Amino acid sequence: MSETEKHPVSIAVVGSGYVGLVAAACFAEIGHKVVCVDNDESKIQSLQQGGIPIHEDFLPELLERHRNSRIRFTTDLRTATQEAEAIFIAVGTPQSETGSADLSYVDAVASEIARSIDGYKVIVEKSTVPVYTNEWICRVIARNGISTDHFDVTSNPEFLREGTAVVDFLHPDRIVIGAQTERAASLLQKIYAPLTTGAYYDQSDAVPGPCSRQKTPPILQTSTKAAEIIKHASNAFLATKISFINAVANICEAVGADVEDVARGMGMDARIGPKFLRAGVGYGGSCFPKDVAAFRNVAELVGVDFALLREVEAINEEQKQRFFQKIRSALWTFRGKSLCVLGLAFKGGTDDIRESPALDIVRQLLNEGSKVNAFDPAAEERTREVIPPNAQMRYCSDPYEAATDADAVLILNDWPEFAELNLERLRSVLRYPIVVDGRNLYDPAKMAQMGFTYLSVGRPANIHHSGISTQDPQAGLYKPGATRGF
Ligand code: UDX
Repeated sequence: MSETEKHPVSIAVVGSGYVGLVAAACFAEIGHKVVCVDNDESKIQSLQQGGIPIHEDFLPELLERHRNSRIRFTTDLRTATQEAEAIFIAVGTPQSETGSADLSYVDAVASEIARSIDGYKVIVEKSTVPVYTNEWICRVIARNGISTDHFDVTSNPEFLREGTAVVDFLHPDRIVIGAQTERAASLLQKIYAPLTTGAYYDQSDAVPGPCSRQKTPPILQTSTKAAEIIKHASNAFLATKISFINAVANICEAVGADVEDVARGMGMDARIGPKFLRAGVGYGGSCFPKDVAAFRNVAELVGVDFALLREVEAINEEQKQRFFQKIRSALWTFRGKSLCVLGLAFKGGTDDIRESPALDIVRQLLNEGSKVNAFDPAAEERTREVIPPNAQMRYCSDPYEAATDADAVLILNDWPEFAELNLERLRSVLRYPIVVDGRNLYDPAKMAQMGFTYLSVGRPANIHHSGISTQDPQAGLYKPGATRGF
């Protein structure tokens, strides 16, 4: 029996969204006693009965493994607080109208925790929050008459990506602990000990990933403020990398160079690194758009003009528009055209459609009078709630059904299966062999060879008219006011 199994920490995780539910399942997986709290009764009921509200690799297995033994679900925050040594706040921090993070859920949870505290508790911010949040939580709790000896508020940001969240949690690049007291820091160290000692990776049923007994994740202990900034600055930096490569892609298009070669060449420099240099339709999701805006807002509040982040946001918006113009350049007009859309989620591997560039594009196509035949391996159900099926919008069960009789295929996210289409079959069902690829999943030379007109991002377009293939370095180049057709 491991040390953690002998002495598990009693943990409450408040919020059962992508971060909360994954964190709760993973804390149980590494041996702790976890209660996951949410005020959404139907969600909790469904979780109690074995429902899985999100598409996330390994999550069903972990919940199955630990449900009713190490993990349970409740709406009762009061009892959960009283029973827990550590309470992780993982509720939503949506974007307010000004771009700042709306912290009203964090405030409400902190007040309720304060009213239930009956002994020393470590309260942990897991949600992405601005740098002043820790102090506010402390103030809210103190206002409820709780003495500062009875609690500590710490920051332990989460860096997980949707789709690979469980692996990211159990095999992190680093574990950041922002704490003001040794007492609080040592409880967090105890919670993560199965990962930092490597004991977890010796388990025969451990979720596989890059960490091992020999390669354990490092802990970085900082002030709470530094931990809060680490999270915002990391997301803002990654978004900056994406906007940077998208701007470079636009230069490549203008001169006829291939952005994939450029990204490879840049990424080979160890100081730059190859990750997050994939040009595309722009970043989306529940984190980058919100966190870039929130970090810019924090900077403004403290008197720093972080103009770079405004530019990152502007490039991202422009990228979606450019891609739409690229589709226009392949089709000339939209009204009455039938388009096969592959990908609705903001990226492959997830069912999340929040801030999805794909949905922005679908909405524009529908506005311009196109018919959309859409396929996404996981995001159909969520998309149906915001774009119900009708005569213009049809949901299909595979890529070939979506492509049948379509005037073009549009690839809008990067599910691995979209990179492995049977191109012969695709061409045979399409009305015209046109592919506009927002994720650069195919080799332009191969597509040309197979007779496709192929437009992608930051690479010369291949235009195929009746058996003659030409490379147009300027094709797909968005010129305001101009439409390009062939
Ligand atoms: C992100 C962070 O990676 C994670 O650390 C944080 O905890 C939450 O936010 P996530 O939103 O799940 O995770 O997705 P991620 O894989 O980072 O991609 C974000 C967006 O950027 C997606 O729209 C993706 O398609 C896009 N992207 C990513 C690119 O366009 N190019 C890239 O090279 C990488």
